[in-house]
Amino acid sequence: SNPSLLILAGDGIGPEVMAEVRKIIDWFGAKRDLKFDVEEDLVGGSAYDAHGTPLTDETMAKAQAVDAVLLGAVGGPKYDVLDFSVKPERGLLRLRKEMDLYSNLRPAQCFDALADFSSLKKDVVAGLDIMIVRELTSGIYFGEPRGIITENNERVGINTQRYTESEIERVARSAFELAMRRGKKLCSMEKANVMESGILWREVVTEVGKDYPEVELSHMYADAGAMQLCRAPKQFDVIVTDNLFGDLLSDAAAMLTGSLGMLPSASLGAPMANGRPKALYEPVHGSAPDIAGQGKANPCACILSFAMALRYSFDQGAEATRLEQAVEKVLADGVRTADLLNEDGITPASTSQMGDAVIAALEAS
Ligand code: NAI
Ligand code: MG
Repeated sequence: SNPSLLILAGDGIGPEVMAEVRKIIDWFGAKRDLKFDVEEDLVGGSAYDAHGTPLTDETMAKAQAVDAVLLGAVGGPKYDVLDFSVKPERGLLRLRKEMDLYSNLRPAQCFDALADFSSLKKDVVAGLDIMIVRELTSGIYFGEPRGIITENNERVGINTQRYTESEIERVARSAFELAMRRGKKLCSMEKANVMESGILWREVVTEVGKDYPEVELSHMYADAGAMQLCRAPKQFDVIVTDNLFGDLLSDAAAMLTGSLGMLPSASLGAPMANGRPKALYEPVHGSAPDIAGQGKANPCACILSFAMALRYSFDQGAEATRLEQAVEKVLADGVRTADLLNEDGITPASTSQMGDAVIAALEAS
C-alpha cells in the first residue's frame, strides 16, 4: 500500500499554504509515481469551531497511525479569548506530547538568491546549510518543581531543568543518525561549566558518540555557540542541544537565512514498526492573521516541510532534493511572495503563483 500522510492544515494561512503542498503531492503522484494515501483533518481553532476541542481523540488516533503528519499552523485572534485548555496551541502540544516527538529538527539553509535577507554579511551565510536538533519534550519547560511560591514574604518564580540519561540519549542518537546522513560533524551545546544537567548532557552525548565513530563530535558552551553561530555559522553541520538553548539558538539561526516564510521543521519521535521515526512536519511560522485570506502567504516553508517528510519519513532523499532545488530555482528566477521583496515597484507573486512556479520548476527538472 502507499505510504500514509495526515494533513492538518489548521488556521489562518495554514490552509492557504497547504493547498500548494497538495498540488505538489499530486504532482509527485502523477509524474513521479510517488503516491500517498492522504487524509485531511482539523486542528486548532478550526477543530474547536467544529468539535469544541482543538484536537479530537479521533484525529489524535489518526496521527498515531500514519507514517507522517504534515501541519500548517494554528491560532488566531478569534481564539485568544478561549480558555487555556481549549486554545488552538493545545492541539499542537497534544500531538507533540502524545506522539512523544522529542527531537526537533530546525534547518538553517541559505538560498543564495535570498542572501540579502540575512542579518549577516552575504559571504558569511552564502551556501549555509546547518541543522539544529533541539530536545523538545523535557528540560526546564517541563521540569518539576515549578510554580510561583511565596517565601520570606516575597514571590518566587520556579522552574527546574531536569534531564534523565535516557532523554539525553535518545535525542543524541537522533542527532548522530542525522549527522551520518549529512556532513558527519556534530556539535553538542550545553553549559556544563555552570549546570549539572549540562555535565550529564556532555557525558551521555560522548557515550552515545562511541556508537558513531565516523562522526566528528565536539562540545561547546551554549553561549559561546551563540557567538560562533553569528560569527561563522558555516563551521557547523549538525548541532544538538536542550529544549531551552535549542529554542533560542534555532530562532537565532533562522534569522541567518532570512524570512520566516522559508523555514521548515520536523519533530521526530521513536522509531515505528517500519523503522522510521514518528514524525510531524510543519513550517516554523504561525497562522499570520495579518495576511490570512489575502493570497499573500509564502508557501515555501510548508513546501520545504514536505520535502523534509520525503527525506526523513518516506526515504525519498533524491525527490526531496529535487523539490528543494525547484524552490531554489524559483527564487533564483526572481519569483517572490511579498515577504521576500524589499523594494517597491515589483509585483509580488501570490501564494498560488508561487506554488505553480515550484511545480513548473519540478516539471523542468
Ligand atoms: P506568525 O508567524 O504567524 O507571523 C509573524 C509575521 O510573519 C507576520 O507579520 C506574518 O504575516 C509573517 N509571516 C508568517 N508566515 C508567513 C508566510 N508564510 N508568508 C508571509 N509572511 C509570513 O506569528 P505571530 O503573528 O506571532 O502569531 C500569529 C498566530 O499564530 C498566533 O495565534 C500564534 O499563537 C500562532 N502561532 C502558531 C504557530 C504554530 O502553529 N506552530 C507558531 C507561531 C505562532
Ligand atoms: Mg521559539
